[in-house]
Amino acid sequence: MLSIVQKEQFTKQGYVVLDELFSLATMHSLKQAAAKIVDDFDAESTRAVFSTQDQSKSRDDYFLSSGDKVRCFFEEDAFNVQGQLKQEKALSINKIGHALHVLDPVFKTFSHSDTICQLALDLGLQKPQIHQSMYIFKQPKIGGVIRWHQDASYFYSDPITVLTFWFAVEDATIHNGCLQVQAHPEPYPLIEQFKRYANDDTDLVKLDNKPWPKDDDAKPLEVKAGTLVVFNGLLPHFSAPNLSDKSRHAFTLHMTCASSAYAKENWLQAKPSPLY
Ligand code: FE2
Repeated sequence: MLSIVQKEQFTKQGYVVLDELFSLATMHSLKQAAAKIVDDFDAESTRAVFSTQDQSKSRDDYFLSSGDKVRCFFEEDAFNVQGQLKQEKALSINKIGHALHVLDPVFKTFSHSDTICQLALDLGLQKPQIHQSMYIFKQPKIGGVIRWHQDASYFYSDPITVLTFWFAVEDATIHNGCLQVQAHPEPYPLIEQFKRYANDDTDLVKLDNKPWPKDDDAKPLEVKAGTLVVFNGLLPHFSAPNLSDKSRHAFTLHMTCASSAYAKENWLQAKPSPLY
C-alpha cells in the first residue's frame, strides 16, 4: 500500500503524510458519530469534575478510569465561577476518549479497516494492536496548546513500537493549530515517561536532558481533511493554540506491536484490540 519512497520518508523523518487518503464522506461520518456522542452526553453528570479548580483528584480519576470507556472531556475553563457552561456543550468539549475503537460502531469499523491494518503492517508493526482512540475537537478560539512531547512517553514498550495514526477530520492549518513536528530528522532519545503507580498516583519522569527542538525548528503539517499522518513514538511534536474561528477536528489511534512488551507503568492498561 505504501510506496518505497513513503516508507523511506517514514524511516528517515519519523513520519509520513498521506494526503487526502480518506474521502470527505468518510471523515464526515466520523464527525457525525462524534457529534452524536456529545449530543447524548449528559454534561450534568460530569459538571462537578470540571467546574471547580480544586477538582484535580476527580479529574485524574475520570481520566485514569477512561481507558475502556467512551468519555467526554471538557475544556479546562469550560465552566464559569457559578459552575455553568460558558458556551454551548458542543463547543465546550476538548476530546472524547479512549475506547471509541471498541465501543462505538462507526469508529470501530473505521479503526479496524483493511486500509489501516495494511498501513500498520507496512510501517513495521507485525502484530498491530490498538490501545487508544481519541476524537480531538481543538475548538475555535479556546483549543489550547499541546506542548512538545513524544507519544512513547505514554505508550512505553520494550522495544518501543508505538505508532500514532492522526486523521485530519477537518482541514488543519497553522491558524487552527495543526500538528507540528521536528523539522530536521535527528534521532531523539525518549525524554520523559508518564508512569502510573499502583496507588494511581502519576508522574512524568525525566529520562534524558536533551532539550526539545526550538519552536522555529518545527515543521507545521498543514493538511486537508481526509489526510492521515503516521508518526513514530519518538518523534517530537506539538500543536499551537487554535486562535482562529475554525475548529480543527482530528481522530487519533495509538498502536503497538503485540510482540513488544507493553509497560505495566503505562497509564492505560485496557486490553488492546488486535487489527487482525
Ligand atoms: Fe502526541
